[in-house]
Amino acid sequence: MTHTLAIGPYNDDEKQGLTRDLAPIYLDGPAGLADLDTAQREAIKAVAYKGHHAFGAAEMDLLPNVGVVANYGVGYDAIDVKEASARGIKVSNTPGVLNDDVADLAVAMLIMQGREMEHASAWARSGKWAEQGEYRLNRKVSGGRVGIVGLGRIGREIADRLAAFKMDIHYWSRSEKDTPGWTHHADPVSLAHAVDYLIVALVGGPDTEQFVSKEVIAALGSRGVLVNISRGSTVDEAALLDALESGAIAGAALDVFLNEPKIDARFYALDNVVIQPHQGSGTVETRAAMAKLQRDNVLAFLAAKDLLTSVN
Ligand code: 8YV
Repeated sequence: MTHTLAIGPYNDDEKQGLTRDLAPIYLDGPAGLADLDTAQREAIKAVAYKGHHAFGAAEMDLLPNVGVVANYGVGYDAIDVKEASARGIKVSNTPGVLNDDVADLAVAMLIMQGREMEHASAWARSGKWAEQGEYRLNRKVSGGRVGIVGLGRIGREIADRLAAFKMDIHYWSRSEKDTPGWTHHADPVSLAHAVDYLIVALVGGPDTEQFVSKEVIAALGSRGVLVNISRGSTVDEAALLDALESGAIAGAALDVFLNEPKIDARFYALDNVVIQPHQGSGTVETRAAMAKLQRDNVLAFLAAKDLLTSVN
């Protein structure tokens, strides 16, 4: 009887690795747990989890002998870690290996928004460049004032990149970091007041829900651009939509949303928003590294060794 369940939308390469190393039972999502018989469920010791559906007490109840839930992704807000800990279930994630890709995408989205690259491309493709000439002037990004909300591993990679773009770096984090020349703000409203570009790099979950509040968005002002590569939950999305529609802020570049992939249709009607389909870590190289780290965590658990990257 197999000891591992692989839950989520794994691609063919990921399935090959999982089948080779763990020979799991595959489920598309946690709802599939109900289709397993009791003996199958009782045999499961490890879950390789991928996706953003909630995995909490109800799912854990169905797996009475599970000892680890190894998440595919650095953000593990879908998994109820408190509940897992109370049951003695370990949880792991895949930190580090995706920092470069997520930071690259954040910087790319910032420039894409400021330089209106989507519109400019459409202008050229539609024949307007040939017919009407130069595209309208847009906005300089290098040398601007940027605020990073959350200076963890990914936030730091973003800031390091933007320092090379000669930007004036401000940040919010719980404690001040040893980053000479960068300005720490103890509160996110003060941070938003000080900058034109605000990049959200927080962890998701209940502690950061709507951390970028209506007040923070208002403080960004009419030249302000919000970039989010963290989780949709970290921003007051209703307030953001209102601000984008009214021009209270200049624009946004977003890789994450509430209710992905069925995001609020109001976003699609806005031409001052760059929309990415939650693809921050989505390169062949990084996803292979994430998949391997997830498998290695499961293998460590099954061999009664310490997890490589546990979160509880
Ligand atoms: C997802 C992510 O894991 O790492 C994270 O926290 O959000 C992504 O890398 C990926 O979309 C797979 O669900």
